[in-house]
Amino acid sequence: MGTIDTQLPGFRRRRMLQGLAAVAGSAAGLVRAAPAGLTIRLSHVVAEDTPKGLAANRFQALVDARSGGRIAVVVYPDARLYGDHDEMQALQLGAVEMLAPSLSKFGRIGFPEFELFDLPYLFPDVANVRRITQGALGQRMLDRLGRQRLVGLGFMDNGFKHMSANRPLLEPAHFEGLRMRIQASRVIAAQMRALGARPVTLAFSETRRALAAGVVDGTENPVSNFWTQGMHEVQTDLSLTQHAYLGYAFVANQRFWESMSAPDRTLVSEALREALYFGNQIADTQNDKALTALREAGGTRIHVPAPAQIALMRKAVEPVHTGLARRIGTAWLDDARKAIDGG
Ligand code: SIN
Repeated sequence: MGTIDTQLPGFRRRRMLQGLAAVAGSAAGLVRAAPAGLTIRLSHVVAEDTPKGLAANRFQALVDARSGGRIAVVVYPDARLYGDHDEMQALQLGAVEMLAPSLSKFGRIGFPEFELFDLPYLFPDVANVRRITQGALGQRMLDRLGRQRLVGLGFMDNGFKHMSANRPLLEPAHFEGLRMRIQASRVIAAQMRALGARPVTLAFSETRRALAAGVVDGTENPVSNFWTQGMHEVQTDLSLTQHAYLGYAFVANQRFWESMSAPDRTLVSEALREALYFGNQIADTQNDKALTALREAGGTRIHVPAPAQIALMRKAVEPVHTGLARRIGTAWLDDARKAIDGG
């Protein structure tokens, strides 16, 4: 399984991180000079016109308005500052103050229980995801991030993922022999293998290019990410499989978080709570808008699986659930299933 990452060659990125460790606040010229007052650098990997991008911008505007410009949130979208490979390290070193990675990206830094959100066909709908993310189980997961000097501030939805390639992907036989780009999640890797494909872990920012170059044959994402990355220009078919969820956790560097005064922490927390609420409100409509835009643009064939095809997909990925239970124990999954069933 290959790992290609982001915009900077390895040696430059390493040097940059070293520099940042020594002088947090100066990222080899990439970070804008901090205005007087407090600056919160928030890095993420998607486009601004996505649920996460819009929520991040809303957070920036709320903090700016409520602090009278004294606290500046500087948002770096589109992996312009850090990408999947180095953003967690950058956060832990204090090179940025906040991130909003997808939940799939927490497994590899020691929180495999976050991969339960990746399980195919676990959640019937977003309302059921929220029973976890807005409840006691979600809070327990956020609290655990403290073990890695992170502060888990809240969850936000994007939506359900769909499969794309240069052919329809509606049942396991259609995946045979395909190289599918995935996020760095063992659950997603197991899902692709169970479907007969070969998973290839790539940074989000490299995905479109890798699809265009034929390094990978297909991928999975909610439509908002598919559309805003221009993946439709390099994939002829989108299959609305809705097979698994994609959401985010907004996290802060613990040292930074604790260094803020109590009133500033309250101001920032409150602004983020509202921004995440806003993000959750618009996530569905952003994905719907992207699907409409995709249909209007033409050129992409859009498929909907038949019930019998969904049944085949569900059956094929059943072992992925037992595989995760073996890795993280049954307690997390039992609690998740209880929340989903309304228990
Ligand atoms: C994201 O939505 O943050 C990126 C998802 C991905 O890497 O596929």
